[in-house]
Amino acid sequence: QMESSNSDYDKYFKEIHGILMYESFVKYWDDVDAFQARPDDLVISTYPKSGTTWVSEIVCMIYKEGDVEKCKEAIFDRVPYLECRDDTVTMNGVKKLNEMASPRLVKTHLPPELLPASFWEKNCKMIYLCRNPKDVVVSFYYFFLMARGHPNPGSFEEFVEKFMEGQVPYGSWYNHAKSWWEKRVNPHVLFLLYEDMKKDIRKEVMKLFQFLERKPSEELVNKIIQHTSFQEMKNNKYTNYTILPSDVMNHQVSPFMRKGVIGDWKNHFTVALNEKFDKHYEQQMKKCTLTFPTES
Ligand SMILES: *[C@@H]1O[C@H](CO)[C@@H](O)[C@H](O)[C@H]1NC(C)=O
Repeated sequence: QMESSNSDYDKYFKEIHGILMYESFVKYWDDVDAFQARPDDLVISTYPKSGTTWVSEIVCMIYKEGDVEKCKEAIFDRVPYLECRDDTVTMNGVKKLNEMASPRLVKTHLPPELLPASFWEKNCKMIYLCRNPKDVVVSFYYFFLMARGHPNPGSFEEFVEKFMEGQVPYGSWYNHAKSWWEKRVNPHVLFLLYEDMKKDIRKEVMKLFQFLERKPSEELVNKIIQHTSFQEMKNNKYTNYTILPSDVMNHQVSPFMRKGVIGDWKNHFTVALNEKFDKHYEQQMKKCTLTFPTES
């Protein structure tokens, strides 16, 4: 059956603290809430499909001072996904992090309110990478099709409706972005835009060096930029997720590293859907000063 229905979504997702989440993650949420941070943890947070793997690889390269050999381990082992839990494939982000040596890199898609309190209490540094929601929803749609644990998203238009209502894992994009945007005044939080990274990667990499209090050299920065280009990351098995079994992610349906561009939404939104989306966006974001660089 090709049609999606709410009951389908109910089978896969459940609410936790008022936000829709993967059912298998919710089952052990107490472990997430009770997570013990260490002061030198670095949190990398994004709404799904916003460039998490990209910024994670850049940070890994900074930590390893550009030694590519030290980055030859799957990205999800180097930067464990905090809230990820699935009994059927024994994925357990909390356990993996607990067993990891410091300094740890922590991947999460949580909004600030749901992040374990310990990260705030320990004053951990946090990076939030934000991406324009039209490209996010396109990417999320393909992710629903290729990654296990998702109901059939139905038509793209139906999926955009769900996204606008926050009826997708991690809830409302608007609330997520707004909450993290408010946190940017905290000196331990670095707020980045995917679009800025596409436009001037050097500038954003330099921001990361400064935030992480690491010394950049021109050679090191060049090496990192080269190693983390879309083409390099797409053809790197440690970052393209092909290490996972094909029943977890099916890259024949749509590769995890799909396009990595700004503006692919234009190939998916009809004029009417775009107008509807813009109107809703304006309503949701009217009190927020966050803006994305204009396309040109
Ligand atoms: C992933 O990377 C490997 C090389 O390590 C490459 O052979 C493969 O085509 C890539 N797969 C996808 C789906 O990007």
